[in-house]
Amino acid sequence: MSTDTTADLDALVATIVAQRSGFDAIAPATSPGAGDEALERLGTLRGRGAFFPFMGSGRGWGPFVECMDGSVKLDMITGIGVQGFGHGDSDLLRATLEAATTDTVMQGNLQCNVDAVDFMDALLSVARTGQSQLAHVFPCCSGAVANENALKVCMQKTNGAPRILAFAHCFAGRTTTMSQIGDSAGARDGIALSTLVDYLPYLDLTDPEGSADAAMAALNECLRRYPSQYACIVLEPVLGEGGFVPATDAFLRPLLERARAAGVPVWFDEVQTFGRTECMFRQQFLGLEDLVDVLTVGKMSQVCATLFRADFNPRPGLLSGTFIGSTAGFRVGRCIIDRLRSGDYYGPNGRIAVLHKHFLQRAKSLMSDHSKAFQSVAAAGGNMELAGGCGGMMRLTPFGGDKTRIIDLVKRCFDAGLLLFFCGHGPFHLRMLAPVGVLEQSHLDTAMDVIGQCIGDMEAAG
Ligand SMILES: Cc1ncc(COP(=O)(O)O)c(C=O)c1O
Repeated sequence: MSTDTTADLDALVATIVAQRSGFDAIAPATSPGAGDEALERLGTLRGRGAFFPFMGSGRGWGPFVECMDGSVKLDMITGIGVQGFGHGDSDLLRATLEAATTDTVMQGNLQCNVDAVDFMDALLSVARTGQSQLAHVFPCCSGAVANENALKVCMQKTNGAPRILAFAHCFAGRTTTMSQIGDSAGARDGIALSTLVDYLPYLDLTDPEGSADAAMAALNECLRRYPSQYACIVLEPVLGEGGFVPATDAFLRPLLERARAAGVPVWFDEVQTFGRTECMFRQQFLGLEDLVDVLTVGKMSQVCATLFRADFNPRPGLLSGTFIGSTAGFRVGRCIIDRLRSGDYYGPNGRIAVLHKHFLQRAKSLMSDHSKAFQSVAAAGGNMELAGGCGGMMRLTPFGGDKTRIIDLVKRCFDAGLLLFFCGHGPFHLRMLAPVGVLEQSHLDTAMDVIGQCIGDMEAAG
């Protein structure tokens, strides 16, 4: 890049950064209704309206984002986990602008620029710790496609083994096959079932030993019933859509070793966990690097990817596709990896762990202030702590995990300026995928205050 271009970009970044002033608190609409026409068009064009009336103006700063009506929201869901460094970050803005000065918007499998290679190199180097044998990385444009590629690699490695081992309540994306692996009835609705999936129970944090025994018994039964028929065992090291349950090494290691011993490849789906818990990868936190044959990432990495061991490298023809990602995605993704690697995010006293501890403390006082709203979830089929998750994956379970009331609460929080979402299959939970790269404890305090006010309003309404 020429000196002139560098100076122009510096000036542009400075101008955009200067426009951020005022984006440091929740604020009401200044032009009520200004986003309504766009929201209506979205509903008409897509055939389905937005879950909540969010229409971004394209401006934001840190965890705050502006809507077209001029309101400023505190974003604790970040596009379902994509904006880990929040909005309008100057480094990421700079990387995006630099990408825009290159010759192509998209990179491909046949032809790519060095941006793609640099990203792949950075991703692989941070994934390969301990006894990891990950050797290759194949980028693509969505978590679901990264998972499709993972499944293909496992299937070829096992000579076309037709069955898949997965965990109850898992999520894997929304392609035809991933919709069948994900354990949710709605995602399979109307899909011709063509994929053979057997489910093992996931860790129950209130009965770790009993659930580990049940999972092992189910695994043994599957292996007895279908010897040499499994292409892989796929797992989310923290159950994401299914309810933010962090698995432990004590739960996973024996299962994965048993699967491996039976010739079943192990695939970690880290699409949701990448970057946001106490290690950059959850497999590292759990010390399970030696058992990972295939691993997928997405969301916070901007570019999605499938990583695999050298002996899983498929024969030519199995993996390809026109696009592997946008130039901006590769540059920003690499910048994010560098920031995560060199910052103070990880470890037991890292920013992310400390934020989670603060969340749990605040959750405790919220629960005592609203004890009627926080009662057992047994009626919804659960038996869990009413606040949980790990790192930037934060869960709260008011109203007995009742779906209608949780969704009502999410929408009330939106109206009060807080963006969050829900997860779980019953019980349902309030769910936050916090922008861990920029979040301060004071932001979390604001979020918890808003949740408390909205719960109070619902209690008052009866
Ligand atoms: C664990 C997991 N895998 C895969 C996916 C699918 O990723 P995408 O929505 O980018 O296709 C998701 C998305 O939420 C996920 O949470």
